[in-house]
Amino acid sequence: MNKMTEVLKLEQVSKVYGKGHTKVQALTNVNLSIYAKEVVLIMGPSGSGKTTLLSIAGALMKPTSGRVFVDELDITKLSERRLPQVRREHIGFIFQHFNLLSNLSAWENVMVPRLLAGEERKESEEIALKLIGELGLGRRKLHKPFQLSGGEQQRVAIARSLINNPKVVLADEPTGNLDSKIGQKVVERLIRVVEDHGGSVVIVSHDEKLADVVDRVFWLEDGKLSQRK
Ligand SMILES: Nc1ncnc2c1ncn2[C@@H]1O[C@H](COP(=O)(O)OP(=O)(O)OP(=O)(O)O)[C@@H](O)[C@H]1O
Ligand SMILES: [Mg+2]
Repeated sequence: MNKMTEVLKLEQVSKVYGKGHTKVQALTNVNLSIYAKEVVLIMGPSGSGKTTLLSIAGALMKPTSGRVFVDELDITKLSERRLPQVRREHIGFIFQHFNLLSNLSAWENVMVPRLLAGEERKESEEIALKLIGELGLGRRKLHKPFQLSGGEQQRVAIARSLINNPKVVLADEPTGNLDSKIGQKVVERLIRVVEDHGGSVVIVSHDEKLADVVDRVFWLEDGKLSQRK
């Protein structure tokens, strides 16, 4: 039998913030493999280390110990300088508070990571427009973030996370401030679009209902990860 391809792998990952009285052991020996085209949910109480885990998986931060493989490349061996490139080429990140650029239109926001990767403007415009359409925002492309609803901003953030065709999309509380029905719809759409593009999704959320629409569920508590489904 063929071994399944791992697009992302955390091996014995630990993270300690600070020192002395303010020292926090945020993650302890976390092991997690994400395979091609799967959808994974990570749940856990506030402060359990979910954002820390996602930031390390997304090459936004290095662990204190352990190893992180993105597409078989050990990113803990890379210099900080190389990490942005790894992020751009392999990972889509959806932040809890969207982090959209307020002076740019929805369309431009979606294009930014592709332009930063040095791709040509015209082609980037076309790809961004297609993604915006897939997320049902065709008629909002020229709107700025403040002119969009929370759910629409969230969909712009999703489109942006997909523009460089990442193998894995990491979503931190993507249902964030949305009411649970709309939140569920947005996440289902996220999953569908990522699947159409042949990628994997890791979602961090408090929302129990999402457990029904994902392949595997993990529970994080006090920085320790265990599998639930
Ligand atoms: N930059 C930091 N410096 C020091 N401690 C931190 C830092 N970031 C997070 N922590 C601590 O690490 C632990 C895990 O934080 P993290 O943000 O990963 O939790 P979380 O599960 O995402 O919580 P929430 O559900 O509230 O978003 C918490 O105890 C937090 O106080
Ligand atoms: Mg968090």
